[in-house]
Amino acid sequence: MPGNPSSPASTEFYKDNTNLKWIILGVSLIISVGTILFTNILVNQLKERERHQVELFAKALEYTINDSGNEILFITEEIIFKNNSIPTILVDEKGEIISYHNIEISPEWSKEKKDEVLKEALADMKKVYPAIDIVLKDAGNQGTFAVQKVYYKNSMLLAELILFPYVETSILAIFGFISYLAFNYSKTSEQNRVWVGLAKETAHQIGTPLSSLMAWVEVLRDDPELKNKGFVEELDKDIRKLRIVTERFSSIGSTPILKEENVFQLVNNVVSYLQPRLSSKVKIEVYTLSESIKANVHAPLFEWVLENLCKNAVDAMENTGTIAIKILRGSDSKVLIDISDTGKGIPKKLVQSVFKPGFTTKKRGWGLGLALAKRIIEMYHEGKIFVKSSDESQGTTFRIELKSA
Ligand SMILES: Nc1ncnc2c1ncn2[C@@H]1O[C@H](COP(=O)(O)OP(=O)(O)OP(=O)(O)O)[C@@H](O)[C@H]1O
Ligand SMILES: [Mg+2]
Repeated sequence: MPGNPSSPASTEFYKDNTNLKWIILGVSLIISVGTILFTNILVNQLKERERHQVELFAKALEYTINDSGNEILFITEEIIFKNNSIPTILVDEKGEIISYHNIEISPEWSKEKKDEVLKEALADMKKVYPAIDIVLKDAGNQGTFAVQKVYYKNSMLLAELILFPYVETSILAIFGFISYLAFNYSKTSEQNRVWVGLAKETAHQIGTPLSSLMAWVEVLRDDPELKNKGFVEELDKDIRKLRIVTERFSSIGSTPILKEENVFQLVNNVVSYLQPRLSSKVKIEVYTLSESIKANVHAPLFEWVLENLCKNAVDAMENTGTIAIKILRGSDSKVLIDISDTGKGIPKKLVQSVFKPGFTTKKRGWGLGLALAKRIIEMYHEGKIFVKSSDESQGTTFRIELKSA
């Protein structure tokens, strides 16, 4: 990849982008926890208010039962009548239900069904709050002759308020998740369009002068003055390389067709192209168990991947060391290609990031080499590419997994 003086900025941008995700997640968490805490305060206040209301209701019942001749009867009745939200059940000393309020009972139900529903409601109420006593006094000597109990549970409003923050947080989480997927999808499809568009345009732009160059080479080839001087052959080599580059760009811009290819052969093509162009202190060694291992690949794109991995290896070794390429057969008919270097390794915390577009630690890097390699291997070959191991003292091994032919 060509040099890029502004690449540190692209690394920064990449970092900012991941930070932004954490910030959004953090803020959402704070809002959710805040909502839950605030609603909890409201719930507690409302619980207290309902308790008071039931106590008042019980008092009113007590008055009404104890002294029906009282002149404030209309007030107590008003209080009893006013409780139209908190479910209550009044039971006698033996625990038998005397009356109930605000419990949904259909008039069409049989007595058994009604009793059953009331019993269940009573059991529920006993679990949530302690009962409020109603002391019944003898009209004559004012002695206590019975104690009845009022049981109650949360009003519908309170029950809903308790659930509200959880429902709200779940809805927000689902909404956030769907938005995230949609955003990711649109980002990926936009990136795809950029990759494809730029690649096609590049192939197209190089294509026109290239055809004309090819024609000129043919003209020069016939020139008797240039014969046997080697110029034309050198020119022809460069044109061939340019054709390969054009083919790579045009393939990435379309759906490449995979063919059964000899992997050892392809690796050797790349090595024999790269070796003479590298420092003499860099050795590339190729190992294979069998020279006839075949895989379904698109040769120009696959060679591009190998070239990118080897160039990264050379950079990591600072132009001194050995690159070992091993071709292996994996389980369930996979072809494995391991590219190892003796370079400086990738720090553990960066291993996850090296395939992300724009990620680079180099002064003059675009951070596109591995992103392109991943795209070629995973999207076009349905294979895998990953960092198999990396160590500061031993260097790095990248592994490519392909389906065998
Ligand atoms: N073999 C390796 N050893 C150590 N670090 C590596 C190796 N291969 C990749 N890296 C790290 O991963 C980063 C991303 O690599 P990638 O090939 O995507 O981009 P680049 O080489 O920086 O730029 P370019 O777009 O020119 O290839 C590198 O900058 C480097 O930090
Ligand atoms: Mg690179």
